[in-house]
Amino acid sequence: MRMIVCICHNVNDKRIAQCAREGVRSVKGLCMATRCGTRCGKCLCTARDVLNEALQQAEPTPAARNALAGSVATANPASQVA
Ligand code: FES
Repeated sequence: MRMIVCICHNVNDKRIAQCAREGVRSVKGLCMATRCGTRCGKCLCTARDVLNEALQQAEPTPAARNALAGSVATANPASQVA
């Protein structure tokens, strides 16, 4: 059963879990991906909780895994030394 998290933009927990599998790692990223929280903002606390729970259970997609690996590689200055 789906739980509506953001009434303003019709975002449910399944959609947030999907975003977590696709590489969303923050509430800001969730807002950008779904518009959740960008109208009245009353859903932000619940959205954060649902995202955190989804991140603990999420198995990232191969594309998200590659993107995350790339961001770690570029964030590590030692990896940029040839
Ligand atoms: S309930 Fe999410 S922005 Fe209003």
